[in-house]
Amino acid sequence: MKSEKRILSGMRSTGPKLHIGNYEGALRNWVKLQSDYKVFAMVADWHALTTQFNDPSAIARNSREVAKDFVAAGIDPEKSPVFIQSHIKEHAELHLLLSMTTPLGWLERVPTFKEKQQDIGGAERSPYGLLGYPVLQSADILMYKPYGVPVGKDQAPHLEISREIGRRFNNLYGEVFPEFVNIIGDEAVLPGIDMRKMSKTYDNCIYINESPDETAKKIKNAFTTPTKIKKSDPGIPEGCAVCQYLRVYSPNWKELWDEDRQGLRGCSQNKSECIEAVNEFLRPFRERRAELDDDTIEQILTKGAAEARAVAQQTMQQVREAMGIW
Ligand code: TRP
Repeated sequence: MKSEKRILSGMRSTGPKLHIGNYEGALRNWVKLQSDYKVFAMVADWHALTTQFNDPSAIARNSREVAKDFVAAGIDPEKSPVFIQSHIKEHAELHLLLSMTTPLGWLERVPTFKEKQQDIGGAERSPYGLLGYPVLQSADILMYKPYGVPVGKDQAPHLEISREIGRRFNNLYGEVFPEFVNIIGDEAVLPGIDMRKMSKTYDNCIYINESPDETAKKIKNAFTTPTKIKKSDPGIPEGCAVCQYLRVYSPNWKELWDEDRQGLRGCSQNKSECIEAVNEFLRPFRERRAELDDDTIEQILTKGAAEARAVAQQTMQQVREAMGIW
């Protein structure tokens, strides 16, 4: 039986396309959770601003494209609200209130903060919003009082701080925010075609919404065992991008890996089977994606925002009452 328990998760709209790493790292779980929970799928456009404040012109467009990829990947907008963060102004209010109670030390200690700050040009140049990133994320989460939050492993520190921020609010003003659990899949992280982390900044991604030919071309050029020149040379599947994809998308990957190790199969055979498997996996996503025009996604987002807003307004009522600020 499906409970009315909620799940909330989000992805930043820093680009127009989601890749299979985004899918395996988080979205796959969101899709699965829909059968047991009410899944709120949020596009975090304000969070995209923390690194793109100097040119926000693409963010609105990107947010719509990301929402289309959510639906293409299996989020059912009939039962799961799909919405854009900035459409629910309550998130900004909760962020402000939580920023009053969050110790600076907690934020400065977040591992990604120092890194991102350096990327942007050090403390003098990086925005206040970057420091507050986890506070905004806490507002996103706590607003929906979710049972759980499904994210990729990299988000664990943000969830930890969100829980702390919720507890602190409850201690100061009274129980408003129930504890939520982390829902982190145990899927292996999919590497990029060059075996580094799959990331659009490395230009090594396989996108949900690219053509089968583009996918084929990328896999043909993907990193394999460098010392495997001839078919009979032993492969090391753990270090080969093609074998990593086969592990996820090919049902008989174990045999393929053994044969690769023993020098019984060559990289080009692996590649053509991998192309086949990945394109077959993405086929239904791409078909759904092709059907989704701009009007349709706008309707989906309007409906999703209305559902999200109803919950957000209720929570904010309780927050204002608890704090006595009204
Ligand atoms: N920080 C998350 C990421 O980079 C995106 C995000 C924003 C999020 N708000 C959230 C994730 C709330 C889970 C819950 O991927």
